[in-house]
Parts: sequence; C-alpha cells; structure tokens
Amino acid sequence: MKLWKGRFTKEENSFADEFNSSIDVDCRMWSQDIKGSIAHAKMLAKQSIISEEDGLKIVEGLKQIYWDMEAGRLHFEAGDEDIHMAVERILTQRIGDAGKKLHTARSRNDQVAVDFRLYQKDVIDGIQAKLRELLSVILRIAEENKDTIMPGFTHLQKAQPVMLAQHMLAYYNMFSRDLARFSDCLTRTDYMPLGSGALAGTTYHTDRRFLAEELGFSGICPNSMDAVSDRDFALEFLSCCSICMMHLSRFCEELILWNSPDFAFIEMDDAFATGSSIMPQKKNPDMAELVRGKTGRVYGDLMSLLTVMKGLPLAYNKDMQEDKEPVFDAGDTLKDCLAVFTAMLDTITFNKEKMACSAKSGFMNATDAADYLVGKGIPFRECHEIIGRMVLYGIEHDKAIEDLSLEELRTFSEAFDTDIYDRISPVACICNKKSEGSTSPESIEKQIDGIKSSQPV
Ligand code: ARG
Repeated sequence: MKLWKGRFTKEENSFADEFNSSIDVDCRMWSQDIKGSIAHAKMLAKQSIISEEDGLKIVEGLKQIYWDMEAGRLHFEAGDEDIHMAVERILTQRIGDAGKKLHTARSRNDQVAVDFRLYQKDVIDGIQAKLRELLSVILRIAEENKDTIMPGFTHLQKAQPVMLAQHMLAYYNMFSRDLARFSDCLTRTDYMPLGSGALAGTTYHTDRRFLAEELGFSGICPNSMDAVSDRDFALEFLSCCSICMMHLSRFCEELILWNSPDFAFIEMDDAFATGSSIMPQKKNPDMAELVRGKTGRVYGDLMSLLTVMKGLPLAYNKDMQEDKEPVFDAGDTLKDCLAVFTAMLDTITFNKEKMACSAKSGFMNATDAADYLVGKGIPFRECHEIIGRMVLYGIEHDKAIEDLSLEELRTFSEAFDTDIYDRISPVACICNKKSEGSTSPESIEKQIDGIKSSQPV
C-alpha cells in the first residue's frame, strides 16, 4: 500500500510500479536512512513538534529496525518503493500511530539527499584508507630503489636514464593528489540538507543545526531549493574516482609493458597473474588489464550522472533517482581496484639488471653530451645539432656515443676531450641533474624526506 495514495483513485500499473521503484538500489543506504530518521525524530521531539513520548517510541523503533537489519533478520517487501518508504512502513507496522508522525517537516527529497551525502562520506573514508595503503607501498619501493637505474621514456621511446625511485615518486605525487582531492570533495559533501522539505523549507520550527551536529555534518545547506536538487557532491566524487582510476590505469599500462618478456623489467607474482587456456607458456597480467579496463566503466559513471543532471529544472525531479547506481558502482570499483592493485604492486619483483642494461642503449645520454659541449662554451642549439649528427653516425655504425673514439668524436667537434666519457655514463647522467625535483640521488632523498615530514592528508 502506497504511503502517498490519498490523491489517487486507481492502483498503479504493476509494471509502472516496478519501474518506479528504487529499493533494489537504495536499500544499500539503510543504515544512513535510519540514522537520518533517528536524528530527525529527536529534533522533532526537542522542538516539541511531536511529543517526547512519540519521539522516544520512534527512536526506539528505528533502533530495533537497525539491529534487525544488521543481523539480517529483516527483509523488504516487493511493494516497497524505496528505502525511505520501507523504513517508515516497517516502523509504523511495529509501533503504530507514532510512526506516522516521523515524516512531519520532512520530504523524501531532503531525506534522500541526506542519506546520499552520509553514504558518500563513508565511501570516501574507505577509499582514502585504501589510497594510504597504496602510497605506503609506493614509498617502500621508492626507498628500496634509490639507486636502481632504468630508462625514462617519452613517446614510449627511451629518453633519459632515471632512478626507479623517481618513477615511483611520480606516482606517489599522483595518488597523494587523489587523496587530497577526495578530502576536498568531502568538504563539500559535508553539508546537511534536512529541513528543506520538498523544496521550499517547512512551516515547523525545525533545528537544522542540531540535525547537522547529530549526524556529524560540518554545516547546513544554506538554500532549500539547492539542498534538494544539488548533486554536485556526487559529480565531484565521480570525477575524483575517474581521475584516480586514470592514474591506476596508467600505472597498470606500464606494469603490463614492463612485465612483457620483451621488457622483462618486472616479474609479477604468480598470485596476481593468470594462465592461457591454450598457450602453456603464458603468464598474463590480467589484474592490471582489468583495472585498466574498469577505468572506462568509472568514466561512464561520471558521464551518466553529468547527463542525468543536465537540463533538469529546479528543484527535485525523479530523474535524480538515477544518481545512486553510478556512485555506488564507481565507489565499489575504485575500492576493489585499489585493493587488488596495491596487493599486486606489493609483490612485484624488479629486475634491476635488466633495467640498468636497458638504460645503456638508445642514446639516452645525448642530452648530457650536448650539455657537455655547452660547458665548453658552445651555444646549446649548436650542440644539439652536433650531437644529432653524432647519433645519426652512431645508428649507421651501430655504436653508442660512449663507443666512439676521441678521434671519431673530434670529427664532430674539436671541443671533445677525454673527460666526456665520465660525463655520459647512465649514473653520471642521473647524478649530474641539479634542478629541484630531478632524478638525482640528492633530489630523491629530498623528495622522500619531504614526504615523510609532511602531514598526511
Ligand atoms: N527514491 C527517490 C530517489 O532516489 C527518493 C525521492 C523521491 N521523491 C519524490 N518526490 N518522489 O530520488
């Protein structure tokens, strides 16, 4: 039986009824819904909008429902339209008339908004905990690989040698921005919409600030129409999830490449790889590929809600019932991806010899050779040209720059001397970097010190 049936003369078409119902999705917010209702009932009694006795009965009844739900003793009925209606129906069935007073000074429009915000706050906490675990694994790998030399790439072509630690610290920066972004999203999620009613506020002397405090919000939504129709907090959350997934996906892409036999920079633990049903030699990086693949799905969640919200007139519209699935899905997906990715990364073995060996080829010391000539007084643009010709010569004769004799070098520039050879080894290329934030060992040490001494978000 519908709680809003008064104005209607006919039963709803049964398929329309099913189509309209959101209980299968929003039942996930049962604990937030009950907590919101407990706070609302306390406020109604405190403000003498309902009697103290009714208030106590309602709160007691809601607590019982909470415990029954927690214990798995309670199940919703097929006809329950959404979580809000379901909880109110069960309450009224259990405590009688007092239950019918719970919805005083409230609409499902402000109720769903408060449930959704409470839910999102919890999810953000969970994601941030997982991000912190990932950051600590990345930092451990960086600290263990302060002197592991590898090729750095641009355009997926060998560019300049770097330390593995520097590569890891790049990801550390990316994921710590994610952590901060979620905190930022939390600050705007943390406003309490109850008391806005359907859209215009209520005629009762409610105490919205009491509700905010009871429910652990830092403030109240300042405008009733915005309060019931705003889903920016959810969009921000989805955008934080999307950016974080993009970071995971880029990392996955690199691990997939590094794990391929042609690179062989890393060995993934057997526990996080899978075999092929036909090719016995295969050890596939499925976890990394799945995380990369699921990134598309989270972007889809963001696009889906952006599109739902576009063009909606103020205030609440039923379109907005479509807001929860993308947020639930993105939150679940990101949490799972962070968990599997962190465990996978934690068990990877780095093949340091392979990386170091790979850092020797590909003319990755060309920029350093040019910088050497700059030191001899030649303008950089000319040095670039000279080294460019040397690289061409090297390719034709299958020789690296350091393989060229001094005689050969001098055919390109008289400025070359024997000290060139010390300047262009991979270690020298790395150690000679002077700029703050570079891959030099001192800079890496500084970056790690900075991370360790900074306040965690
Ligand atoms: N199930 C609805 C939702 O998720 C709750 C709000 C319903 N409000 C209304 N006026 N029909 O959006």
